[in-house]
Amino acid sequence: MILFKNALLSDNSTWDILVNDGTIVQLDSKITSSADTTINCDGRLLLSGMIDSHVHFRDPGFPQKEDATSGTKAALRGGVTSIIDMPNTDPLCVGVAELEQKRNIYNEKSYTNYGFHFGADARDNSKILKDISNVASLKIFLNESTGHMLVTDDIVLDKLFANSLYIAVHAEGEAVDKAIYYAKKHKNILYLCHISQAEELQMIQMAKSQNLPIFAEVCPHHVLFNKAEETNLLIMKPRLRTSNDQNALLKALDSGLIDTWGTDHAPHLISEKEEKLTYGIPSIEFSLELLLTLSKEMNWSYDRVAKLYSANPRQIFKISKKGRIAQGYDADFVLIEQDTPYVIQESDVISQCGWTPYLGRKVSANIHSTYIGGEEVYNKEHKTFNKSKYTKELYYER
Ligand code: DOR
Ligand code: ZN
Ligand code: ZN
Repeated sequence: MILFKNALLSDNSTWDILVNDGTIVQLDSKITSSADTTINCDGRLLLSGMIDSHVHFRDPGFPQKEDATSGTKAALRGGVTSIIDMPNTDPLCVGVAELEQKRNIYNEKSYTNYGFHFGADARDNSKILKDISNVASLKIFLNESTGHMLVTDDIVLDKLFANSLYIAVHAEGEAVDKAIYYAKKHKNILYLCHISQAEELQMIQMAKSQNLPIFAEVCPHHVLFNKAEETNLLIMKPRLRTSNDQNALLKALDSGLIDTWGTDHAPHLISEKEEKLTYGIPSIEFSLELLLTLSKEMNWSYDRVAKLYSANPRQIFKISKKGRIAQGYDADFVLIEQDTPYVIQESDVISQCGWTPYLGRKVSANIHSTYIGGEEVYNKEHKTFNKSKYTKELYYER
């Protein structure tokens, strides 16, 4: 038994939490049970571990940029206890064998809980989708990006939407409406990755007003930078947008139109980015601290943070036993020094790519430690990472 004492939860109440065999078994204002281990949270903020529905960890394929070990350690540094990896790895995750290969890699190497988006193959892999089990979604690229996964043929698109209930899309501008059209036609649950522009928000507003099950994600970089600041290092897809778009995203986060915060953590080496047009930036070590900082500036509650980056991903993808601090849920936590600002240094970078676009940025909160199944998996002070025996593949209750 592990007892977390004096934890400030996202609704600003203080609780003791008892964990047995990886699971939260009791929540009370005061628990005096004789636990084997007691962790005094000391009034620090304890949130359910973050769930990042959108990462590109490059395993298999490009370990010099990131692999399942370095990527998941970077995630823990950022308070993220569950990740869902995108299919543009090498080989592309568009077949049964490739998915099995990724499962084996993560089973061996992952420091966080993990799941996968399966990939749509431009040559049409809709026939095998019935053989694919326990994936978060079928990811379809409707615009060009890293990894040659663009689907252009409308007949293929129609079949892909027809054969997978959950669809995630890389769609920019008009392509958002196209995705919504197919999702409406085939009654899909649609996850719109990295929404970046005011016009896209209008399309989402329209779709939501028709009660369609359509969900939208925003990434830190589209809120925190705009295109006037673009350098070779700050190139990603979608590209940085205008300050008007930035404001529209903030408003949409504020109003609840946006459902999730996801990093689109997409590491490349600095040398690659300096040599040629290369889409993607890393960020997972800092995404929660950046969100907490934004949240403080915008006067948002901790509940909103917990929803955007944990409870909503759980609810959208129906992830079993994650994303809530409640009896019967997995004891995945992040403990936060909510009022301890610091300036992001190079030594804070964990990602294999070795750099961050957020170098020198001041954040208002500090990840103190991260837990999976109640076991400490990251501690900032001791600079330690551990594997929890409770780390596992995510399971979707559908
Ligand atoms: O900037 C991006 N990088 N956008 C994507 O859609 C893919 C990603 C990557 O994998 O590098
Ligand atoms: Zn994308
Ligand atoms: Zn992406």
